[in-house]
Amino acid sequence: MARKITKAIFPVAGLGTRFLPATKSVPKEIMTLVDRPLVQYAIDEARAAGITEFIFVTSRGKSALEDYFDHNHILEQELKAKGKTDLLETLNATNMESGAIAYIRQHKALGLGHAVWCARRLIGDEPFAVMLPDDVIAADKPCLQQMVEAYQETGGNMVAAMEVPHEKTQSYGVLDVGENIGSVVRTRGMVEKPKSEDAPSNLAVIGRYILGPSVLYNLNQKKKGSGGEIQLTDAIAEDIGNGVPVFGYKFEGQRFDCGSKSGFLQATVAYALSREDLRDDLREYIHEVISSDKAAQ
Ligand code: G1P
Repeated sequence: MARKITKAIFPVAGLGTRFLPATKSVPKEIMTLVDRPLVQYAIDEARAAGITEFIFVTSRGKSALEDYFDHNHILEQELKAKGKTDLLETLNATNMESGAIAYIRQHKALGLGHAVWCARRLIGDEPFAVMLPDDVIAADKPCLQQMVEAYQETGGNMVAAMEVPHEKTQSYGVLDVGENIGSVVRTRGMVEKPKSEDAPSNLAVIGRYILGPSVLYNLNQKKKGSGGEIQLTDAIAEDIGNGVPVFGYKFEGQRFDCGSKSGFLQATVAYALSREDLRDDLREYIHEVISSDKAAQ
């Protein structure tokens, strides 16, 4: 039986330059999909999967993120005094237990593998999850929970996987697919951001991982990979050679690439349309805009 996963790493040190000027003063992870910060979606997904320790790898300029997870007593008292119990509940659901959340600084942008390695002392010698908050996944059963359940059977390392158009492989880690067992795929290798002509398949890694501590040992070597960065994909692939299996998990759900503007907008529309309080107005507005072909002036 594989071990229980209680710790998750959230690499959030990126500058978010694709969202300038907004990210000049607001961390990208705090930007909202409807009325919830991007990072809240990842936290909720992690909690549903049984995660109780949340490790954020941050950088300069991310202090708004720390404030977000802090209790806001003034606001709480105000809402209590006014009897606004619904809002109070919404607020309290974002609070973190003392000691459940830790922040580690990545002092230099040396790559995703390096960001994960920065959290090694907080992980110790146990399996852990990594979640990239840019990848928002809408699903009946949250993606990480699906993976944790599958991992109980497989052990090893597991990455979320999704088929992408062949011409898009250059934006992803890509799996060299071996045996296929339902939603689980055994991999023979992994390549970070290959050109479509060099890609071993079109099955791409999406930002959810369950990894063993051996991946952290592999990262100790600080080998540079694609783009001159220390890549998580390479450290996971190295495990295959060392006899630790790596599985791709083809999750059920819809993934939004919130690292891109169009993905962020699509997620905003999708989540807004799933909300009872917004659905009707928004649907009407979208129909109106599309039929009159009129953009905001
Ligand atoms: C990262 C990983 C890549 C993965 C992707 C998923 O890339 O390095 O392997 O496929 O996330 O979103 P990034 O998008 O940060 O460049």
